[in-house]
Amino acid sequence: MKTTINQVSNHVGEEVVIGAWLANKRSSGKIAFLQLRDGTGFIQGVVVKAEVSEATFSQAKNLSQETSVFITGTVVEDSRSPFGYELQVDEIEIIHEAVDFPITPKEHGTEFLMDHRHLWLRSKKQHAIMKIRNEIIRATYNFFNEEGFVKIDPPILTGSAAEGTTELFHTKYFDEEAYLSQSGQLYMEAAAMAFGKVFSFGPTFRAEKSKTRRHLIEFWMIEPEMAFMDHEDSLRVQENYVSYIVKSVLDNCKLELHTLERDIEKLEKITVPFPRITYDEAIDLLKQKGFTDITWGEDFGAPHETAIAESFDKPVFITHYPTKIKAFYMKPDPDRPEVVLCADLIAPEGYGEIIGGSQRIDDLKLMEQRYEEHQLTGDAYQWYLELRKYGSVPHAGFGLGLERTVAWISGAEHVRETIPFPRLLNRLYP
Ligand code: 4AD
Ligand code: MG
Repeated sequence: MKTTINQVSNHVGEEVVIGAWLANKRSSGKIAFLQLRDGTGFIQGVVVKAEVSEATFSQAKNLSQETSVFITGTVVEDSRSPFGYELQVDEIEIIHEAVDFPITPKEHGTEFLMDHRHLWLRSKKQHAIMKIRNEIIRATYNFFNEEGFVKIDPPILTGSAAEGTTELFHTKYFDEEAYLSQSGQLYMEAAAMAFGKVFSFGPTFRAEKSKTRRHLIEFWMIEPEMAFMDHEDSLRVQENYVSYIVKSVLDNCKLELHTLERDIEKLEKITVPFPRITYDEAIDLLKQKGFTDITWGEDFGAPHETAIAESFDKPVFITHYPTKIKAFYMKPDPDRPEVVLCADLIAPEGYGEIIGGSQRIDDLKLMEQRYEEHQLTGDAYQWYLELRKYGSVPHAGFGLGLERTVAWISGAEHVRETIPFPRLLNRLYP
């Protein structure tokens, strides 16, 4: 009976046929161990010389890496393997022989692996990271559907920049100038006025000249936006959401976390509520930690975020940043207009900012003033002003960067391993 590796637990003691690739192999004179993968998982196939035909044993011994096969064997439980099962091989049918697969089990340099990303994706570690990414996406849809949010898709080609104009990808839109979206937020605000609680999930683009382990040129963002909700309400949604996805990965990706040797205990601590500190408190904390020359009004870089995160074993919200270093749409604190009602959520273990969010300006006059300060002229932004003209309400929202979140939860060193085909500074291939 034809089955897949993730289904073998339903076939213990039965003979099954599995379409698979040979990931790796070990053999002696009497026995061959085949590491098989079929996309759904990995299983060891054991070929015992005394129990198969001579032809089958020699086939097994000579199988080359990434050769595709239909393999017939009996499923047995195996308590030594983390997967719990192995396959006692009876027969091997070669579908296609792979010759000289470039990614061998030995160590390879990063650039080599990145040049072969289309093949590297097959490796056990990359497979585990992508499965965790998939679980986070699944949990995201579950969470927001359970909480009554409507999924709304903002445009990718746009005339309006949400996050400043320096990092835009420009493109021609017939005779007009257009950009690739940096954030769907402005459109999600319009959607929140139509549907109440909404979320988006889509690709966003930033022509950032940053070459760090946290920056991609193309990354995926989840952007919820909520009418009649303030800054505090939004923080509660954020911590509930993040703890929900961590729990989903812990519950449903045990094998993948094991493959990645992720310290599960650290993830088990991720429960609500998350700690909160203000920007002012963060400045004091940084001074205590030896960043003596940081001054009020400066933005934080990766070393600052990492130092702050070290004081907490959960993600930490940094709230109330100076108005002048944040986006034009953020609502000033009514008691202290030099800071805004915003928060960045900093992941533990040095993974940096995974969420940026804020309460939005809902007053037309103030928004018009910001337009002037930020020189947001032209037609592209007129529609956004109108949201403040017709039944404006307090509202708040946030954006979670998927790849940084996957990096943190899976323990990946660099965001390039958390997206199937990363777009990086100087890399558009494959
Ligand atoms: O903080 P950011 O720029 O916020 C916004 O874009 C808001 N408009 C979101 C909103 O309120 N709807 O980006 C949000 C998150 C960051 O916290 C980070 O996780 C991720 O997006 N991010 C990146 N991830 C990978 N590579 C990059 N170059 C990123 N830039 C931002
Ligand atoms: Mg940010």
